[in-house]
Amino acid sequence: MQKNNDRVIIFDTTLRDGEQSPGASMNMEEKIQIALQLEKLKVDVIEAGFAAASPGDFEAIENIAKEVKNSTICSLARAIDSDIKSAGDSIAKANLQRIHTFIATSPIHMEYKLKMTPDEVIKRAVRAVEYAKTFTKDVEFSCEDAGRSDVSFLKEILDAVINAGATTLNIPDTVGYRMPAEMGSLIKELNDFVKQRAIISVHCHNDLGLAVANSMSCIENGARQVECTINGLGERAGNAAMEEIVMILKTRKDYFGGVDTNINTKELFPASRLVANITGIIPQPNKAIVGKNAFAHESGIHQDGVLKNSQTYEIIKPSDVGVEEANTIVLGKHSGRAAFRDKLDSMGIKLSDDELNDAFARFKLLSDKKKEIYDEDIRAIISDEITKIPQTYELVNLQLSDCMNGFPSAAISVKVDDEIKIEAGLGKGTIDAVFKTIDRISSIEGYLADYQVNSVTKGKDALAKVTVKVVFEDSKPAVIGHGVSIDTMVASAKAYIGALNSYIYMKDTLSNKNKGTI
Ligand code: KIV
Ligand code: ZN
Repeated sequence: MQKNNDRVIIFDTTLRDGEQSPGASMNMEEKIQIALQLEKLKVDVIEAGFAAASPGDFEAIENIAKEVKNSTICSLARAIDSDIKSAGDSIAKANLQRIHTFIATSPIHMEYKLKMTPDEVIKRAVRAVEYAKTFTKDVEFSCEDAGRSDVSFLKEILDAVINAGATTLNIPDTVGYRMPAEMGSLIKELNDFVKQRAIISVHCHNDLGLAVANSMSCIENGARQVECTINGLGERAGNAAMEEIVMILKTRKDYFGGVDTNINTKELFPASRLVANITGIIPQPNKAIVGKNAFAHESGIHQDGVLKNSQTYEIIKPSDVGVEEANTIVLGKHSGRAAFRDKLDSMGIKLSDDELNDAFARFKLLSDKKKEIYDEDIRAIISDEITKIPQTYELVNLQLSDCMNGFPSAAISVKVDDEIKIEAGLGKGTIDAVFKTIDRISSIEGYLADYQVNSVTKGKDALAKVTVKVVFEDSKPAVIGHGVSIDTMVASAKAYIGALNSYIYMKDTLSNKNKGTI
């Protein structure tokens, strides 16, 4: 990738560092969906995962590499031959490929974690870059914990890896320790040292709430790649939020001397919603750019000002980030199939005829119960169709009793291969009774690792979205399931069954692969 002083390369790591966020694991279909949305956003580089972490991670990167055509697909690797080989193999089918290799450079990491001397670290880094170059010419090298590393050591190792062929040099503030001015002056010094020999990148964590401020200070001082995630997802307090960096550059072009990104900003809000729906981690309401209050004007004085001229209180047009006010209330009870199909088209969603029939039936059921149907409701009811995981088990009916004073119990009927199976069971609480009864129907025991419930839209009749993480039998990592309904218990049962269907699908796919049939 060529250095262009007027353009910042956007390197998205939602699928790698973002997935390291507690509770954010995603299945393969979900990762592909996010990768395709990142491509629509025109992200330059998508870090699709850490290939050596697990066969599931490898497979997800390989599939993303096949599906995405216009963004570079990057795979992370420690500075270890076997990791680099996995990374190289995982991106072999990508149109545009990158390997990202890293080793820690701070005294505390070298001494206690790596138990290596600085000289050994440099040798290992050089070997890693040279080996990575045998797979692709686009190689990024990161000095992990650069924020707490000695600047003269950073120069020494960067010089060595440039000579070994690294094309991007990433300077992570891994523990989110630096202040913006300190981070900026570090980048200035390294940029002056590296000159035009490679692109300087930054990767800021948010432990002190400074990830975006630090990234902006680095851009001001010569960084021309920023690593970031949608909604600021990431390890611990997260990474720098892409939507904020992109909109700061766009809104304050005057301040940044015209430096910009290639991002299609109208896809920022849809990307945020997609990541939130998939991970179940919803941005706080007052989160800049994508929070649900980011463009809401509550006070009378503000409302009056905005009605007279939106620029009185709005520095960004909601539509510039994909928030379409006029489009939020859409369909209702009387809308027909054609209107429903038109709406899906306008949201960029393509379904086959069978999928459309199923989705339309769900829409009709919902519109009987809910007066106003929003884009978010539609996205939620069609999420099963989008993920394309076969619905081996389908919830038909659910009855609950004695939630307060007796024994919480559930009676459930489920469709499996055109047969209806009915079971009833007790639990410690209602949700426990529901999940145990589903276990009895499937004869597959699940352990609930996480349970989250969010409302999709506003009002008492809002849809509830339940996200569960379940470990079935020996499944590792846990499988994720989502369920949406106006009733939280029904949404919970659907989410659990969704996780079960994913588990069965993954198990079948893996065993077919081992037999060589896929
Ligand atoms: O925070 C960090 O240092 C990282 C590296 C692997 C780039 O995520
Ligand atoms: Zn990181």
